[in-house]
Amino acid sequence: MFVNLRRIRKCKCVLLMTTCMFLSMVMVCWEQLDSSALGHVKSYSYRYLVNRFTAINKTFTIPREQARRFSNFHYLLDHPDKCTGKDVLLLLFVKSSPENIERRNAIRSTWGNETFIQKALGVTVKVVFALGAPVTKKGEPVWSKRSEVGFQQELAHEDRLYGDLIQQDFLDSFHNLTLKLILQFHWMHRSCAHARFLMTADDDVFVHMPNLVSYLQRMSRRGVTDFWIGRVHKGSPPIRNKSSKYYVSPEMYPWLSYPDYTAGAGYVVSSDVADKIYQATLTMNASLHIDDVFMGICANAMGVSPQEHVYFSGEGKAPYHTCIYDRMMTSHSHVEDIHDLWKAATHPRVKQRTSGLIGRLYCTVAKLALLCKPYYVDTYPCKAALL
Ligand SMILES: *[C@@H]1O[C@H](CO)[C@@H](O)[C@H](O)[C@H]1NC(C)=O
Ligand SMILES: *[C@@H]1O[C@H](CO)[C@@H](O)[C@H](O)[C@H]1NC(C)=O
Ligand SMILES: *[C@@H]1O[C@H](CO)[C@@H](O)[C@H](O)[C@H]1NC(C)=O
Ligand SMILES: *[C@@H]1O[C@H](CO)[C@@H](O)[C@H](O)[C@H]1NC(C)=O
Ligand SMILES: *[C@@H]1O[C@H](CO)[C@@H](O)[C@H](O)[C@H]1NC(C)=O
Repeated sequence: MFVNLRRIRKCKCVLLMTTCMFLSMVMVCWEQLDSSALGHVKSYSYRYLVNRFTAINKTFTIPREQARRFSNFHYLLDHPDKCTGKDVLLLLFVKSSPENIERRNAIRSTWGNETFIQKALGVTVKVVFALGAPVTKKGEPVWSKRSEVGFQQELAHEDRLYGDLIQQDFLDSFHNLTLKLILQFHWMHRSCAHARFLMTADDDVFVHMPNLVSYLQRMSRRGVTDFWIGRVHKGSPPIRNKSSKYYVSPEMYPWLSYPDYTAGAGYVVSSDVADKIYQATLTMNASLHIDDVFMGICANAMGVSPQEHVYFSGEGKAPYHTCIYDRMMTSHSHVEDIHDLWKAATHPRVKQRTSGLIGRLYCTVAKLALLCKPYYVDTYPCKAALL
């Protein structure tokens, strides 16, 4: 007994010493350790051990007059009465670029068809596209043929046909995505504040509208507040590689990890959260161009944190399978296949095949096989198979 105890103490001592040595090594080499894997270790430790995101709030807060320049752009196209007098369950902003008219048309005739949603699902969903002003890019033949003025006229024509473009006069570019984020929250505040939920999505995201609507109806009946759902990034490190488009300088963001946020590909917030984010944008320095990270910073300042939903995808693409269609909310990178996917995913046979004891058992096995592969496939997480 005595010997055993001593051995245990010895073990503990060795463990303690190794930990100390490891930690001091980490301390000494902290600045030099910079490979991507270690970057994640550092950011995770920061997220879970230090976690002083309060400093971020302070650093990003600027006087209102200065914050105004991120939101006082003119509307080139606008529909302030879009939601008036309607009981809107969901206001859905699709972040689109002027040139992506085909993607917009595909969305209008599939998951974003408001008439279909009203008729088949019995709820009002408003789908609008958030755009900046067109840019003529050099070196691209299609673009160089059109002037910016001509391009704007084409957009105005498209808007006369469908009445769903919301456009401000900042240049539509990757580095202006945060301005587009602010546009969405400000537009909702001004013109659609009574919508129960706000969603923002990329224009190459597939949204399983029937699944999403029934989920949001359930949440709405429960009267959820502080609701922010999507694919959550926890402890993501800022990218310090200057050739990456996600590069953020240490001056702009000095900490080791971002506050939790949801992938910009598609997420949903309840109207109270939308209002809080709107309030936050009034006093925030929106120079950080990564829109979903900026959303995380605003939410952090307002004390809101995101929740994970396993069937929201970030970069990932859903496997084509009946059992997945039964549960999926969003899936990324769908352009050519959007019509086929819409047909397949909303076909009545999906519910027939996946219901009942046999159907559910079959689906658990099928989803385990699809999602729990031993090698990494970017899709829904393995645990989605069991839910
Ligand atoms: C939208 O759905 C309605 C009703 O299902 C249909 O009549 C209409 O053609 C659809 N619109 C588009 C653009 O596909
Ligand atoms: C963002 O939009 C503003 C206003 O149009 C423009 O001055 C600026 O150059 C744009 N920024 C980028 C990085 O495109
Ligand atoms: C930096 O990013 C570029 C472009 O994304 C990539 O080719 C390069 O390998 C990256 N460098 C490092 C050190 O990660
Ligand atoms: C906002 O942040 C940028 C980048 O860090 C900085 O250059 C700028 O001075 C800040 N603006 C204000 C008003 O503090
Ligand atoms: C963030 O800063 C604002 C203004 O300084 C303050 O009102 C708010 O309470 C802060 N939020 C948190 C979570 O510290």
